[in-house]
Amino acid sequence: MKKVYLETYGCQMNVSDSERVATALGRDGFEVTADAAGADVVLINTCSVREKAEQKLYTQVGRIRHSEGPKPIVGVLGCVAQLEGETLLKKIPGVDFVVGTRAVGRVGSILNRTLDGESEIVDLGEREDEYDWTVADTHRHSPYVAFLPIIEGCNKFCTYCIVPFSRGRERSLPASDIIRHTLELKRRGVKEIHLIGQNVNSYRPETESGLEGFAGKSAFSRLLRAVAATGIERIKFTTSFPRDFHEDIVEAIETHENLCNWVHLPVQSGSNRVLKLMKRGHTIDRYIKQIDRMRASSRDIAITTDIIVGFPGETEADFRDTVELVKYCGFDSAYIFKYSPRPGTPAFEMDDTVSAAEKTLRFLELENTHKASQHKCLERYNEKVLKVLAEGISTRTENGISGHSTCHKVVNFVGDKAVLGSIVNVKITKVKANSMFGEVV
Ligand code: SAH
Ligand code: SF4
Ligand code: F3S
Repeated sequence: MKKVYLETYGCQMNVSDSERVATALGRDGFEVTADAAGADVVLINTCSVREKAEQKLYTQVGRIRHSEGPKPIVGVLGCVAQLEGETLLKKIPGVDFVVGTRAVGRVGSILNRTLDGESEIVDLGEREDEYDWTVADTHRHSPYVAFLPIIEGCNKFCTYCIVPFSRGRERSLPASDIIRHTLELKRRGVKEIHLIGQNVNSYRPETESGLEGFAGKSAFSRLLRAVAATGIERIKFTTSFPRDFHEDIVEAIETHENLCNWVHLPVQSGSNRVLKLMKRGHTIDRYIKQIDRMRASSRDIAITTDIIVGFPGETEADFRDTVELVKYCGFDSAYIFKYSPRPGTPAFEMDDTVSAAEKTLRFLELENTHKASQHKCLERYNEKVLKVLAEGISTRTENGISGHSTCHKVVNFVGDKAVLGSIVNVKITKVKANSMFGEVV
């Protein structure tokens, strides 16, 4: 039995693709191993969103080439594979085949062809059986939590972003399939599903099948209600696109307890001028209204975001607007990135006016501003009882259990292994930026 090691970078869509690839390979008679050493095949599922992410591929292949012992077969999957295609074979000696983002379903057969002696296979083609993957079972990142893609690709073409090029056009899965998958996962003991997509709220299926009778102006809010009606314990969704983030989504969260109180809404910049240059299609006024609406909600909604500093043309004044916005919003969490020019995107053609040193300064200042406002924002959890899904053992403390709250915080507590897979009431006693600690009540 050939041993396959799968390394994954990038977003949840890549994690989800890798889970499906691993499941399919297992079915095709390969042994999927968690150990890179001794693997006959190494598959690298790549990300291209920033230069640093892309660099990981080169580092990893270099490591394999210079390691001792027999060399494994190396296959490159994912976004870098899709963008570079066969040039990867020339650029990185040691790569045996390249599989694009929509061809991941064929990895097993490509691997078999490679083992039979065929060389340099490049497959950037479309999916064969659109969305008809059976729900990944054996190779999920958790037995209790499952990712469920509902929309693939992206049509937004924000000027800095490579994703529309690496993932292609938006395609929404039929709601009836999503509901069927949810029921199947529930039957298998999954407690929490994450509906995933580059922009989940741009969800627009070809038919209403599965959504009939559910309230909500947008198809996404109807989908949320339809999935909630399956009775699965918890539903989270990410990422939400501000332009399409309508109130009916918050209303759905308010009416269905199993829709979790967490919204990831990347703002990218606090300046309307920069947002325009980024072609985000939303304004700060509207964004603030969305934040205010969620803050006023009967559910205590945790709000997280992504921000880019140093976008081409970002002035000191634009950056100040971002700092003020972060102070105003008080995000539960903010992922801050330095702008990274991506070849092929419109922003790549703009003058990269902010120096590397200035980007670093802005990055550090914004991190500090965020940390201070986050500190205040997280205090509200102190002494609060959160419902935590016990997902695994925490090595930080003796008899430590770790899991996530409905508001998607990592919570550690002392407990018996027997609670794994169940939802536990935990009173928070210590709040830190990236995790919390509490006691079972
Ligand atoms: N679809 C999501 C984001 C997907 S990419 C959305 O529209 O919000 C994840 C994050 O990476 C983005 O939110 C953005 O903050 C960051 N990002 C994307 N391209 C980038 C680039 N060229 N440089 C720096 N950060 C980037
Ligand atoms: Fe990229 Fe914009 Fe699409 Fe998000 S919405 S994936 S940032 S192009
Ligand atoms: Fe990266 Fe591709 Fe996801 S570029 S962020 S792995 S869609």
